[in-house]
Amino acid sequence: MSATAPTPAPSPNDVKARKGGVPLVVLTAYTTPVARLVDAECDVVLVGDSVGMVLHGLPSTLGVTMEMMVLHGAAVRRGLTRALMVIDMPFGSYEESPAQAFRNARRLMAETGAAAVKLEGGVSMAETVAFLVARGVPVMGHVGLTPQAVNTLGGYKVQGRGADAERIAADAVAVADAGAFAVVLEKVPDGLARRITAEIAVPTIGIGASAGCDGQVLVVDDMLGLFTAFRPKFVKRYAELGAAAEAAIAGYAADVRARRFPAAEHVFADEAPVKGARK
Ligand code: KIV
Repeated sequence: MSATAPTPAPSPNDVKARKGGVPLVVLTAYTTPVARLVDAECDVVLVGDSVGMVLHGLPSTLGVTMEMMVLHGAAVRRGLTRALMVIDMPFGSYEESPAQAFRNARRLMAETGAAAVKLEGGVSMAETVAFLVARGVPVMGHVGLTPQAVNTLGGYKVQGRGADAERIAADAVAVADAGAFAVVLEKVPDGLARRITAEIAVPTIGIGASAGCDGQVLVVDDMLGLFTAFRPKFVKRYAELGAAAEAAIAGYAADVRARRFPAAEHVFADEAPVKGARK
């Protein structure tokens, strides 16, 4: 853990109060061991619905279910001791009505121990955000490129260039005014991200947005080089664990084929060692 990592665990209100301060550090996690790895350095750990693509090989996040989020959320909770845990509401679990959103947010929080939910959408979701917040569900917003809307957006394109900037800015303002404690800005131009960050009263968390945001989020498997199916421009690789794993697996396979593994130190003697004797 670095000397600068903040402790103890922030609440959604603490995160909100970090507006304009030291940038918030956010990573995804989907499993207990990865949650343990990211806990010390992150202010917020997001159980993203990206789990569907990253761990389950789905072509998009559309097939992610409540059951998947509950399973991964509970696993992440067991690995965290201090970071704030936020969990994504999957496609179809909140868009129908504020009541549907509350029912599913309650389930996610109760069954995983998450302190807050994240949902995608701007103006069209503002009423739902206000409904949840008024009933004790802290909400993180998500505007710009909203991957659950890939079919209406026509792909995973940058959002908010040119005249479209006003739409994205209005979305961010709407969810912030509705009570979101922070808003993810995904794949929006640098200038627009800075403008929104200046305009809204809660922290912006950028992904493919701007260093001027109040925080940054990446998918942990992307930045570790573990997810290699594709690599968005906004991903910086801090390690090449996928390549390291491939080399390790190739080494194991070669050792097995050459009978170099297991070696003497990995096998058991026919006689049990005498107690107290040196092994
Ligand atoms: O699902 C996810 O991982 C996300 C982040 C990339 C913001 O929504």
